[in-house]
Parts: sequence; C-alpha cells; structure tokens
Amino acid sequence: MLDPMKSLEKAATDRGIRVDWLLGDMCGTPMQHSVKNLGHLDGVFHDREAWQSMDPQTIVYSVQWQEPVLPNTEGGLFWGSTTIEAGRVGDEYFMTRGHFHAKRDRGEYYCTVQGKGMLVLMGEDRLSRLEIMSPGSLHYIPGHTAHRAVNTGDAPLVFWACWPSDAGHDYDTIAKEHFSVRVLERGGIPEFVPEEPQPILK
Ligand code: PA5
Ligand code: NI
Repeated sequence: MLDPMKSLEKAATDRGIRVDWLLGDMCGTPMQHSVKNLGHLDGVFHDREAWQSMDPQTIVYSVQWQEPVLPNTEGGLFWGSTTIEAGRVGDEYFMTRGHFHAKRDRGEYYCTVQGKGMLVLMGEDRLSRLEIMSPGSLHYIPGHTAHRAVNTGDAPLVFWACWPSDAGHDYDTIAKEHFSVRVLERGGIPEFVPEEPQPILK
C-alpha cells in the first residue's frame, strides 16, 4: 500500500532557505547586502559637528534581503532584515535614513526580534507618530507613510521586513524635508523633539 507520508515527502521540495530569526541572518538564497557607515550618512543626524568628529567608518546599520523577483515587479515581495548598532551621534540615536516608498501607496511589515527602539512613521501631511520596537513587536506600515527605525537601546536592534517588490525607495524627500520629529537622548532616556524648521533652499 502507498505510504501517504512517503509520497508527500517525494512530492514536496525543501528550497533550503533558512533564517536565523534572532541574528537576522539568512542562507540558502542569493542575498543582497548593504552596509551604512557614518560616512554614508551625511546630513542625516542633526548635530553636524558631532557627526564630523566621529570615525566615518563606524557602522551604523546593515541590511540583508532577498529579491526572488526583479525590483519593480508588480505583485512580488521582498524579505530582509536590518541590524542597527547601538550608538549616538551627539544626542541622536543611531537610526536608518528612512524613506517613503517610491510608489507611495505600497505598505510594509516590520517585526522586531532583538533590541529596543522606536519606529518613526510620518504621513505626507508631516504628521508623525511613534511605535515602540521590542522583541516580538509587529509593525504594519501603511502606504503613503515614511518610516525610520531608531535604536534607543545599548545593544543592536534587529528587525525583519517584508515589502512589495515594486515599492522602491524615495530617499530624496526625507533628505530634503526630514522627518518632523527626531528621537534624542535627554537625561538618559529617549525624547521626541520636533524637527527645527529647515532653511528654504533656493
Ligand atoms: O524596506 C525597508 O523599509 C527596510 O528594509 C529598510 O530599507 C532598511 O531598514 C534600511 O532603512 P533605509 O532604507 O531607510 O536606509
Ligand atoms: Ni520601506
């Protein structure tokens, strides 16, 4: 008689892709990697003097992700992790650059696995809100919402993300207009401070 388990095993495939949840590592699939050190983050932190006084090679965050379909493919998904190191530039915690999606209506999920942080979410109307990131916290980022993760702890902040393959990243808007709030260390704890008005560039 046919053993149903055996035939199932024969029919099923193990694609051999594995994640190490806590480390944010993935293996068994070609991966994209990106590392951002302080030198890459010109203009991101508000205290320029403090930024200039630090070693530009200092790693702030790294991202690894897999692209099972080509970027811009409608209907596909990308999957990856980000690790933000613990540290500060002056009184500002290490954080990602943050972005809107180039296709504004595309959403995303973040899920924290290690560390402590804040997710800064800002709509196109510049209204911001914050969500606490801690192990197990799941964050739905709706479309039309800029997002930035901030490590407010003293150990790496690690989170997974899943986003549409045609979302793209718009970094320019944030580089020019910034988020409307910053997460700064005040008296040993994080505080949310409104962004100072930007000079009008001509
Ligand atoms: O897709 C995402 O939102 C994340 O994978 C980010 O790209 C990652 O956290 C790095 O942040 P940023 O792209 O803002 O530099
Ligand atoms: Ni995103």
